[in-house]
Amino acid sequence: MSGVSGMSGSDPAARDRPADRAASPDPGELADLACSVAREAGDLLISRHGQVRVVDTKSSPTDVVTEMDRAAEDLIRRRILAARPGDAILGEEGGQIGAGTAVRWIVDPLDGTVNYLYGLSDWAVSIAAEVDGTVVAGAVCVPVHRSLFSATAGGGGWLRSPGRDGPERLSCNSGVSLAGALVGTGFGYEAGRRVVQGQVVAALLPRVRDIRRAGAAAVDLCSLAAGRLDAFYERGLHAWDFAAGGLIAREAGAQIAGLHGRAASESMTLAAGPGLFSELHDLLASLDPERDQ
Ligand code: IPD
Repeated sequence: MSGVSGMSGSDPAARDRPADRAASPDPGELADLACSVAREAGDLLISRHGQVRVVDTKSSPTDVVTEMDRAAEDLIRRRILAARPGDAILGEEGGQIGAGTAVRWIVDPLDGTVNYLYGLSDWAVSIAAEVDGTVVAGAVCVPVHRSLFSATAGGGGWLRSPGRDGPERLSCNSGVSLAGALVGTGFGYEAGRRVVQGQVVAALLPRVRDIRRAGAAAVDLCSLAAGRLDAFYERGLHAWDFAAGGLIAREAGAQIAGLHGRAASESMTLAAGPGLFSELHDLLASLDPERDQ
């Protein structure tokens, strides 16, 4: 499988913006860096896809860390700090370094680790840049599909993929009813949470077109942005799972939030096109999904 290095650039509209990094970091520049680092990490990861060792576990014995999660995060941290030495970075594997800076990077070096371990195709490198607490740029690289999703705040969501002349602007589906919706979701790694997640999905299943569990939240959010899913929800995601994909989905026209007007968070992340968001929100809210057994 060839790498993803051939795909270049982020939001094309952002390229001509002035670069005055010290005064105000330019989202287009941050997105370009996110894209190039995500592609490089994707190339590193694909070289060991399906042939990797588990080196640790986290929240449960099935919540695994492979040697490549760590190698990819190490590469991403080195590349970001070489380009922007003063920035803070929050990464899934290494936690936070730096604080009190305007720019903080939010990194999932390998979203969909279990898919990667098993040689399945839906896994991604996800890199977002926050400025003063707001995500303004993001990139999600899906190496097996040679797809690079990216967005800047206000600059749209974009997809570069093989066989296309240039970047395609992403647009989520609109006007979909709940009964006609293809809904993506995911499950946490702890049994007590899964009991409730199973009850919630069982109540949803007869009310929607169908359910998909692809195994990588960043990919799910990009699939929503590309119209390959109509909606997505999950309890228990961390910022690194949804920071870049959430911006990409929002820039493709989706609404993304938590329940009851709250922001998307670990407690609940829900995303869908206009109209469907409120229908799904109300059904989910009625099921009290923000609890664990
Ligand atoms: C996981 C994936 C999965 C989701 C889990 C996440 P990881 O991320 O995004 O789809 O259901 O909640 O933890 O562990 O592979 O980086």
